[in-house]
Amino acid sequence: MLDLKRQYEPLQKELLDAVQHVLETQQFILGEQVAVFEKAAAAHLDVKHAIGCSSGTDALWLALAAAGIGPGDAVVTTPFSFFASVSAILRAGARPVLADIDPVTFNLAPDAVQAVLEQPEGAGVKALLPVHLYGQCADWTAFSQLAAPRGLKLIEDAAQAWGAEWNGRKAGGLGDAAAFSFYPTKNLSAAGDAGMVTTNNAEIAERSRMLRQHGMRRRYHHDEVGWNTRLDGFQGAILQVKLKYIAGWNEARRSLANRYHSLFHAAGVAEAGPYPVHGIVLPSEVSGARHVWHQYVIRCARRDELREFLASRNIGSEIYYPVPLHTQTALKSLGYVQGDFPESERAAREVLALPIFPELREDEQQAVVQGIVEFLA
Ligand SMILES: Cc1ncc(COP(=O)(O)O)c(C=O)c1O
Repeated sequence: MLDLKRQYEPLQKELLDAVQHVLETQQFILGEQVAVFEKAAAAHLDVKHAIGCSSGTDALWLALAAAGIGPGDAVVTTPFSFFASVSAILRAGARPVLADIDPVTFNLAPDAVQAVLEQPEGAGVKALLPVHLYGQCADWTAFSQLAAPRGLKLIEDAAQAWGAEWNGRKAGGLGDAAAFSFYPTKNLSAAGDAGMVTTNNAEIAERSRMLRQHGMRRRYHHDEVGWNTRLDGFQGAILQVKLKYIAGWNEARRSLANRYHSLFHAAGVAEAGPYPVHGIVLPSEVSGARHVWHQYVIRCARRDELREFLASRNIGSEIYYPVPLHTQTALKSLGYVQGDFPESERAAREVLALPIFPELREDEQQAVVQGIVEFLA
């Protein structure tokens, strides 16, 4: 599914030098290497401020808390995402409100959000938290139009979307604040847990820096109860190296996605969708989006059988995500039940992520496609 060693090998010398530099300077927490990475990251995304932290999960919490979301507020997000999209809202002390997804992009559907905002459960909503799932931006034009007249904050869950764009603007600078993850499987990845908040708002940036260090502006003077969620020097140094390559890696992912498209179409197994019948439905890049293909996710009605068939041929695949968040045991108290979000529930039954990473070879892609064609036959 993913071979990280293929990324490491050509970068080995640069990465070891970077790690050695941290050891020599002994700046392990924040420090010079994190500051340099934050500056380079902000320039790369064309945003004013970038604040490194311990994980994407913490970045989501920091972004919400720094934007002033807390107890008494509600935040609308998607049930078809990683758990942190919802748990970070709870950790900020706010109430998550869910709305269903679009069956083509798997992203939060603007019309579903609008419906929620117009119902009683929409009272108290202070922010929208769309997720740029699989590396494709949520419909930011529509979300901006929903947020502006209501004075809602817009927070991006950009954990899977480093380098993705919406109408020529990069994810990370679309909303009031954004959260990135550098978990090792992400398209821009650290050698451990790491994350980042980005924003063009000086106040949110300042509050994020304060909250990531126990609410301190001055050493041992705590203005608020923050948390310890600092980025460490090793991760800052490693991410600086990888940042130089991410544009090329994302281009490689786009080429790989195009090749999957061509191979599946040539094999005659691609169906129009959005729902699969006998074959598979391919993912698509929608108008306005520049997809970075963090994942290449097909739909198949017999998904579990297909996955087993591929595994028997040593072909990796993954399910992101098999259990929609509104049916998770830990989130029962939100009051949702099975049947509340049919698109998310159907997606959870049908999606299958295929191998896609910059170093994936053509013969390996052909084997994936061949395996699926044989299964369908
Ligand atoms: C959409 C989404 N949000 C949030 C996160 C949380 O990031 P992390 O694992 O770095 O805490 C992830 C990654 O796991 C993610 O995919």
